[in-house]
Amino acid sequence: MEFSIKALAPAKHATGCLVLAAFGKDVLLRAGEQADRAASGALKRALARGDLPARAGATLLLHSVPGVAAQRVLLVSFGERKELGAGAFRDALRGAANALKDLACADATLALLDVHVPGRDAAWHVRQTVLAVREAFYRFDQLKTRKKAPVPALVAVTLAQAAAPVTLEAQRALKEASATAEGVALARTLGNLPANICTPTYLAEQARQLARRYKLEIEVLERRDMDKLGMGALVSVTRGSRESPKLIVLKYRGAGAKAKPIVFVGKGVTFDTGGISLKPAGEMDEMKFDMSGAGSVLGALRALAGMRAPLNAIGVIPACENMPGGNASKPGDVVTTLSGQTVEVLNTDAEGRLILCDALTYAGRFAPEVMVDIATLTGACVIALGHVATGLFANDQKLADELLAAGEDAWDRCWQMPLWEDYQEQLRSNFADMANIGGRPAGSVTAASFLARFTRKQRWAHLDIAGTAWKSGRDKGSTGRPVSLLVRFALRHAKLR
Ligand code: BES
Ligand code: MN
Ligand code: ZN
Repeated sequence: MEFSIKALAPAKHATGCLVLAAFGKDVLLRAGEQADRAASGALKRALARGDLPARAGATLLLHSVPGVAAQRVLLVSFGERKELGAGAFRDALRGAANALKDLACADATLALLDVHVPGRDAAWHVRQTVLAVREAFYRFDQLKTRKKAPVPALVAVTLAQAAAPVTLEAQRALKEASATAEGVALARTLGNLPANICTPTYLAEQARQLARRYKLEIEVLERRDMDKLGMGALVSVTRGSRESPKLIVLKYRGAGAKAKPIVFVGKGVTFDTGGISLKPAGEMDEMKFDMSGAGSVLGALRALAGMRAPLNAIGVIPACENMPGGNASKPGDVVTTLSGQTVEVLNTDAEGRLILCDALTYAGRFAPEVMVDIATLTGACVIALGHVATGLFANDQKLADELLAAGEDAWDRCWQMPLWEDYQEQLRSNFADMANIGGRPAGSVTAASFLARFTRKQRWAHLDIAGTAWKSGRDKGSTGRPVSLLVRFALRHAKLR
């Protein structure tokens, strides 16, 4: 799907579908008023009949409107004008895109750039529009024998603006959003692929493909390398599995050698059975999404490389399966991490922190500007924040503030949780330097507190995406979060916007 921005007169523009914004029961904006005048008031009359509810995302489709060159006009409600916020804007765009999905048109023109969310600039509106449409049109049907692709497919989307010229800023926002959408789609597909296909080896192969396509540097450590380095925690998780673990290191160089890299570390558990501390059977299939952190790191690097962002970024992905088996770790086992600290594995289902602690120690070798790990780490985070906000933990408040702001900007929000020393007490062990679990209270905080013991020398943040990386139920599937947050963070951090 190709996006472009053009200055055009909406009524005269030949297109499969012209999308116009409506507020309340009677308000159109500039583009809508123009089209309505050309149609001798047909649009306002349709609105007045009351068929378009004043709810962001509701749509009304009109065919062959007299005086309008478009084959169809899609009116989309943005709710009540005085209440328009970023969320309603996204809802409206999603509604419009979903309506477009059902149409047999090859091109559409969105005359929505005169809709203004207070406090957001023109580039923001462009980015959000592209991302919302691409998100709605994402399909995962590669494992179905009968695909239900619409004919013809929507291939060209024009964002119409009222007056020339189209600014360089808008063009840049379009490029950034298109690349970001590609990254989101990659993360979603990797998440949606089942664990018999998306293995650690598969993730490494995907990383290699990205490296070839975007000229990235890649290194993949094998089990023997992990053993030799002393990654006792990572290796302990993978012991029960027949799949070879991989530690993937992918480097994007968009700036000079002096610019310190942002390092993203993504949890890549391609399936989490819990190991000997076996999970209950219900919904265990969803543990194929336990590599979503890894998927988001690959997605973010693809996005940054695709838009040739002038910054350096490195992805570090510990990838393995967590399985029970004759060789698996047992509760009570003590392992020695790459940092030298010892860990008593009281619960083999708290495996994410075990693979991440070694990956974070390893990531320290790249002299990072900042380190951010992304992980479906705790069920407790879902209890705390539900499926709306990603949990944010940081040992540096400036970094936390940057991530919070990037989340607001991308509308891929996170919420900060405490990382106080007081919580460390819960990780006390009688037999090793620490235990890998801290009991029921504040489960997502003690998991983050565990990681904090391995990142004392760096500016570091942790994103717990257990509640936001995928949806359950009828719409079960990966969301691609937090790729757009990570991309926005990297660009803002590099002082680009
Ligand atoms: N991958 C899970 C976390 C998870 C569970 C994410 C459910 C999303 C939905 C993680 O490896 C895990 O099992 N965590 C345990 C930790 C506990 C044993 C301290 C959990 O949250 O139950
Ligand atoms: Mn687990
Ligand atoms: Zn897990």
